[in-house]
Amino acid sequence: MDNKSYQDHFFKKAKDRGYRSRSAFKLIELNKKFKFLKNGTKLLDLGSFPGGWCQVAKENVKNGKILGVDKKEVTEIKGIKFIIGDFLQEKSKISILKYFNTNIDVILSDMASNTTGNKNLDAIRTNELCLSVINFSLQLLNKKGVLISKIFMGEDFEEIKKTAKKNFKKINFYKPDSSRSESRETYIHCSGLST
Ligand SMILES: C[S@@+](CC[C@H](N)C(=O)[O-])C[C@H]1O[C@@H](n2cnc3c(N)ncnc32)[C@H](O)[C@@H]1O
Repeated sequence: MDNKSYQDHFFKKAKDRGYRSRSAFKLIELNKKFKFLKNGTKLLDLGSFPGGWCQVAKENVKNGKILGVDKKEVTEIKGIKFIIGDFLQEKSKISILKYFNTNIDVILSDMASNTTGNKNLDAIRTNELCLSVINFSLQLLNKKGVLISKIFMGEDFEEIKKTAKKNFKKINFYKPDSSRSESRETYIHCSGLST
């Protein structure tokens, strides 16, 4: 599928199903593959605007606790709490820890830095976010917890893989069909803390 047909196909599909973003289908595919959205799940969604992943999480998690965090304000979704803030700032991390006040089951990050026009720089910035999420997850996830984060293929990819391998028992990479083939984006799935 060329880029334009891809955009049109997933735009229409998202509109038909009432999802706020085409990205919603990436989470549907990720969950089909790794099966982490369950009843009772405590879940953090980083980079939640406009809310597509939160919509999918809510459909699949009953009696859980879901928190979305983004620099941008997300329009309300019943039953989900949102915090507006920059994840890289310490005060956002403190607010997240305070909100859950216990270890959680799933951390998702679809955060992507603003595009600059320089693909290498964009990849480096988004991967910095991914690394920061991995480091933060050590404070928040429970022992059997799952972390899924967007990551770009780039020169720092190996470093992130190494950090993930050091801290988690199992790691996988998965690129959903709904992620454009020409995009360097893929997702890292980490499960079970090593320590
Ligand atoms: C691809 S969009 C996420 C789409 C979302 N998963 C959905 O389905 O609706 C990436 C988001 O990451 C957010 N973001 C980027 N850097 C961030 C940061 N440092 N802290 C919080 N959010 C950030 C952006 O504001 C943007 O809304």
